[in-house]
Amino acid sequence: MKLIKARDYEDISRKAANLISAQIILKPDSVLGLATGSTPIGIYNKLVDWYNKGDLDFSQVRTVNLDEYCGLSKDNEQSYCYFMNHHLFYHVNIDLKNTNFPNGMECDAVKECNRYNQVIEDMGGIDMQLLGLGTNGHIGFNEPSDTFIRNTHQVTLLNDTVVANSRFFDSLDEVPKKAYTMGVGHIMNAKKIILAVSGENKSEILNQVLNGPVTPLVPATILQFHPDVTVVADEAALSALA
Ligand code: F6R
Repeated sequence: MKLIKARDYEDISRKAANLISAQIILKPDSVLGLATGSTPIGIYNKLVDWYNKGDLDFSQVRTVNLDEYCGLSKDNEQSYCYFMNHHLFYHVNIDLKNTNFPNGMECDAVKECNRYNQVIEDMGGIDMQLLGLGTNGHIGFNEPSDTFIRNTHQVTLLNDTVVANSRFFDSLDEVPKKAYTMGVGHIMNAKKIILAVSGENKSEILNQVLNGPVTPLVPATILQFHPDVTVVADEAALSALA
């Protein structure tokens, strides 16, 4: 894994956005795998700035998001679709028809997972996947477990993930307990992966991801087996590095 050391969150945002920009410039019809959460907000802000300056063209870009909460519609303010629309898609010239999410309102999990697997396959896979890192080592909503799950699946979120994500909700009770997530196989099939990690609360887990044994108990450790991962992390996140 390549490691890019950034000073702070702002520096992570600029460096990771530069990598995504280069991808779009080199391949204007790139398939981008995208993440939500706190970490990518600064990256998306930079991409919007550079689009406004005329440096980026999203007209041919296609996207697949990693995950979506079950039970939230696309226009629910807590849905990941809403997040992406408001942080990136509504501010650039992407065709919304080219943006894809698991459908959190589909109750038939088998049907929805098959549909999303097909969406990713029909696009020919992912050119560049942006990932954040959960404090428990999750990527997407691939939570720590006994096995790695290859394809899209419905997951029951672990309590620490529910607690971590409750900061975006009015109360813990409102956080959905289930989600659809892209599987580890789709992530690992991406041609390039960027893992953005910020903050001291991620330092212990980042050390395990970079230096620990590969195990589904820390799902992000599987990235050690990918040929083209770039970790962009700030000094705080790197503070526990062995
Ligand atoms: C979100 C996602 C999650 C987050 C992770 C880190 O789409 O897939 O894996 O990337 O929970 O979240 P933040 O960036 O909020 O610390």
